[in-house]
Amino acid sequence: MGDQVFTGCTAATLADGATYGLIENAAIAVQDGMVAWVGEAPNLPAELAKLPCTDLGGALVTPALVECHSHLVFGGDRAREFALRLGGASYEEIARQGGGIRSTVSATRDASNEELLNAALRRVDDLIADGVAVIEIKSGYGLSVEQEMRMLRVARRIENHRPIRIVTTWLAAHALPPEYADTPDAYVEEVVIAGLKRAHAEGLVDAVDGFCEGIGFTPAQIRRVFEVARELGLPVKLHAEQLSDLKGAVLAAEFGALSADHLEFLADEDVPHLAKAGTVAVLLPGAFFTLRETRLPPISALRANRVPMAVASDCNPGSSPMSSLRLAMVMSCTLFRLTPEEALAGATCHAAAALGLSDEYGSIAAGKRAEFAVWDTKCPDFLSYWIGGDLLRGRIIHGEYHER
Ligand code: NIG
Ligand code: FE
Repeated sequence: MGDQVFTGCTAATLADGATYGLIENAAIAVQDGMVAWVGEAPNLPAELAKLPCTDLGGALVTPALVECHSHLVFGGDRAREFALRLGGASYEEIARQGGGIRSTVSATRDASNEELLNAALRRVDDLIADGVAVIEIKSGYGLSVEQEMRMLRVARRIENHRPIRIVTTWLAAHALPPEYADTPDAYVEEVVIAGLKRAHAEGLVDAVDGFCEGIGFTPAQIRRVFEVARELGLPVKLHAEQLSDLKGAVLAAEFGALSADHLEFLADEDVPHLAKAGTVAVLLPGAFFTLRETRLPPISALRANRVPMAVASDCNPGSSPMSSLRLAMVMSCTLFRLTPEEALAGATCHAAAALGLSDEYGSIAAGKRAEFAVWDTKCPDFLSYWIGGDLLRGRIIHGEYHER
């Protein structure tokens, strides 16, 4: 691998996990695909100054973005349902009538592996164009042991087709399939838990998730799943308090979850549980926007309790039909009033923490992977301000610069 030094750039290192950590006239030395040194160019140690040098022409360099919550492997779409919702039907009504997640389950079951893969790759390419280097992908549209495992196998195959790190999450506890409509506890045992054990044995599972909600699973059912995850040594995360307050986040914190996600209905007094457990709050403004939600996640309480806030696209065909992490950053500022600095930390260092990957990704610091995004701006606020467009000038992948 080409050891080298990148110069002629402003670096937003995110090294302290909270602020941009801006270095103007920065030098970043990479060796064996890892960051060896970062700082002001005049301070570059002499032995590293001997390495070949790539001038980035005044660009802004940030850590590569990390997409920490997506459902981007799925069949079909739900454009029709979108129209129905605009006509007045609610997300929950549509789900209770057998639409919603269940309609994507039918389309996913009907799609071939190649169809699922090719559709997913288009969404992956959109994320890559936003400077993303890591994508978490959940199962949850198969809802049988075989179909859930198939989704994760397809997700893992993406790494063979694109220069991207894929992290896979077992989300069989996403919705009840028609076969188990009247027997949710049997579904939890026979599909969610039995399937988790098989998928884990095949090495397909990096984390375990659930949808704790009136139209999803009860806290008692989620607890059962989390207990098995704990026995298997797998980290957990949870869709919690998206549509109502079932105390899912408190349950997630009890299990030391990597993250609790959505959180619009999280009560202020429950926020300290997340802080104590070191659980990341993953904010999903795309779902808030699409469902025309009006209740905001308790941002001030999260801030006051120093709960790390990540931002993700939630890319899925129902509640968040979008494949741009940068748009999620923009929305997190306009809708949730995050600062642009918080939004970038949310899509880099805190997103990496939500995946248990803080040692490798999320900041530009010695010892981390040399995975960066190179942007056509000098100002990091720009990334959370400009809607759409093509801001990425290039990517640094395993320490090598690839211009777009
Ligand atoms: O994160 N909340 C549950 N899961 C997804 C929605 C999935 C769907 O509607 O297809 C979410 O919003
Ligand atoms: Fe989700």
